[in-house]
Amino acid sequence: MTTAVDTLTGALAGWLPRQRWYAGKDRAPGTVHVERVTPLLHGDPALLHVLVAVDGERYQVLLGRRSSLPADLADAAILDTPGGVVYAATHDGELMSRLLGCLQGTADGPVFDTEPGARVAFDLPARILPVEQSNTSLIFGDRYILKLFRRVLPGAHPDVELHRALHSVGARHVARMLGSLTVEVDGIPAALGILQEFLPDAQDGWTLATTDRAAFAGEAAELGRSVATVHNALSSAFGPRNIAVDDLADTADRLHLRFAALADGIPELAPHERALREAFDRVRTARGPFTLQRVHGDLHLGQALRSGGRWTLIDFEGEPGQPLAERNAPRHPLQDVATMLRSFDYAAHHGGAADVAWAQRMRDAFCDGYAEILDDPRDQPVLLHAFELDKAVYEVAYERAHRPDWTSIPLGAITRILGAAS
Ligand SMILES: Nc1ncnc2c1ncn2[C@@H]1O[C@H](COP(=O)(O)OP(=O)(O)OP(=O)(O)O)[C@@H](O)[C@H]1O
Ligand SMILES: [Mg+2]
Repeated sequence: MTTAVDTLTGALAGWLPRQRWYAGKDRAPGTVHVERVTPLLHGDPALLHVLVAVDGERYQVLLGRRSSLPADLADAAILDTPGGVVYAATHDGELMSRLLGCLQGTADGPVFDTEPGARVAFDLPARILPVEQSNTSLIFGDRYILKLFRRVLPGAHPDVELHRALHSVGARHVARMLGSLTVEVDGIPAALGILQEFLPDAQDGWTLATTDRAAFAGEAAELGRSVATVHNALSSAFGPRNIAVDDLADTADRLHLRFAALADGIPELAPHERALREAFDRVRTARGPFTLQRVHGDLHLGQALRSGGRWTLIDFEGEPGQPLAERNAPRHPLQDVATMLRSFDYAAHHGGAADVAWAQRMRDAFCDGYAEILDDPRDQPVLLHAFELDKAVYEVAYERAHRPDWTSIPLGAITRILGAAS
């Protein structure tokens, strides 16, 4: 006999691969298992919180059920049942407005905790952020933003851990953390979401840099100062780890391992392999002392918001595809600088012919700003270049798979950086 859970499982198997945040898009789901269903609101509409395991990955899904679905929710429908239509509840402003209020102590389900000293209103109107990204974000009354992590991973989540630690040292240039959503899986807490202050009228750095390059020149130095300020705060929040030469060997080994994993089967990288590996090896001999610390982990122009006349860095979750242990590991802060510099190169290629001179000016302005607070990144060319090359190799692999026309951008950067370093 087919049960309601079997029917739901089948419907989710068809629906999940169509979601932007679903990791296994390149293959049909194998085993789908609805692990846990927590009713959050009864009645019509009803709201359910669901943990679903797909081929070893665990996701959170919010499901609504209504006897009949309003036209504006038609696209959110997942399954027709005798009890009503089951649909993706994050699109339902009415249900989402009541979400925070009904997460105050479910047995065996998700729990929302307000941060010490914060006050959160639970009755604000909610709307979904129109662009679905790696996660799903909800905006409450233009005052809060709740990011729901779609992948559920037991253990410390960097977005939550870093924002909490940054707040504890009074860090500037980050959005205040107001609360977190957690569930226990396998006896270990897993982060489901983070609530933060919403910055009104924010524009992200990528949009600013690509709509008016000339106007962005003044912003790049300020961005450099802001990133250095956040690095400083991360270092004092967690305490830096002074590293000896051995650790630089670890860094070099890690760059080699990443290269081997990323470059496998990519013929465009083969001609550069020797020079790339030499650049990674030079890291072993770079002159220190060096300090590893917690870093942003996925810094680019899209992760910086301009609002209220200042830069705010967002999204400290690291590279979502990496395991948590990797994302929580201390790294050299120049890794963040390098990924931001790569972002300037991309912005310089936006909309036609590359404006290489502009990218160079932005790099210098950013590093000038950074150097007002911390050491000048340009004083460590070996490390900086190695991290930029590492990121460019990742980009070649990504572009080849998703936007083949763009592969020339990181390939051009590899040629340029290797040329400058030789
Ligand atoms: N505090 C904030 N105030 C205003 N807008 C914000 C805030 N935080 C995030 N946003 C907006 O929400 C978007 C998504 O946020 P974020 O990058 O944290 O989500 P994500 O799902 O991790 O995205 P990605 O797929 O890029 O990793 C941002 O690009 C920004 O436009
Ligand atoms: Mg993210």
